Amino acid sequence: MEPVASDVFGCLADGRPVERFTLDNDLGMVARVMTYGATLVDLLVPDRDGVPGDVVLGFDEFARYPADSPYFGCTVGRVANRIAGARFTLDGADFRLAANDGNNHLHGGQVGFDKVLWTAAVQSGAAGQSVRFSYRSPAGEEGYPGNLDVSVTYTLTGDGVLRLDYAATTDEPTLVNLTNHSYFNLACSGSVLGHILTLHASRYTEPDAELTPTGRILPVAGTPLDFRRPAMLGGRIGRLAGGGYDHNYVIDRAADDLALCAEVYEPCSGRAMDVYTSEPGVQLYSGNFLNGLAGKGGRAYQRHAALCLETQHFPDAIHHPDFPSVVLRPGETYRQVTEYRFSTR
Ligand code: GLA
Repeated sequence: MEPVASDVFGCLADGRPVERFTLDNDLGMVARVMTYGATLVDLLVPDRDGVPGDVVLGFDEFARYPADSPYFGCTVGRVANRIAGARFTLDGADFRLAANDGNNHLHGGQVGFDKVLWTAAVQSGAAGQSVRFSYRSPAGEEGYPGNLDVSVTYTLTGDGVLRLDYAATTDEPTLVNLTNHSYFNLACSGSVLGHILTLHASRYTEPDAELTPTGRILPVAGTPLDFRRPAMLGGRIGRLAGGGYDHNYVIDRAADDLALCAEVYEPCSGRAMDVYTSEPGVQLYSGNFLNGLAGKGGRAYQRHAALCLETQHFPDAIHHPDFPSVVLRPGETYRQVTEYRFSTR
């Protein structure tokens, strides 16, 4: 297997260089990832005629990421999505977190895992080219207890799969819920409202007005959230408040291993992406807050220029004892696997 190419994508304000790594395979796919935020920067995938196109939103210049990024492609942590009231109690101790989304804590706080520099190690195995990013989050960072050692490995396989393997350990009880926040557009331009989506989820966690869960788990049947059969993303989006989808779905799964949670198909290019995950939930976000942000190639990213499928434990799980737990204790290892499998038809 060929060695993994790397370069310096840019520098942080304090002068530290940000490395970028290029993974490729014989299908013509290319994934570029960087140490800042353990972020997926570019993902080139051939269309049905074999012409590669970049299916993720982002920026051409590194400096735009710290300045402007709405979580493009990054690793989100310690806890993805919201923690209501930016506080929690664990084993009788109270912890206060940064409130960076109104009263709530969002995507790990002011300086979450998306805004720190990770250490990279390239690996070449039988499965394909890989880069493993690791980071030690010190106790107290963003208000969370425990030193957390976290890693995420990106692997691009020879059969069209971008696989993400996450792991974490701690020296004190803490919370962990990692995800990737890539914004996908399988047409590589325009809006994603014409993408055909299937979600293998019969239920969702009901959000309140601040997008934190009420605690109720409701059926999607009879609502615009129902994607159990393939449907255009934009078909019923106008019936939703808030500009579109921003909902955590409860994945229908038969077993504990990887489950197919989402299928996306873009009919003009023929590109298809199937998402498999170990996680109980997936957040469908339809790029509702995009508002003309200038991205790669000077393209203006308008509302619905992309969709995110954030595989995760449910938002605000620490306040809902009946949701799968996000507590990690010393001696345990947190693991998360998500695969984005690409094909054309
Ligand atoms: C998640 C959240 C959204 C928003 C986006 C990023 O999808 O649920 O509300 O924060 O991330 O803007």
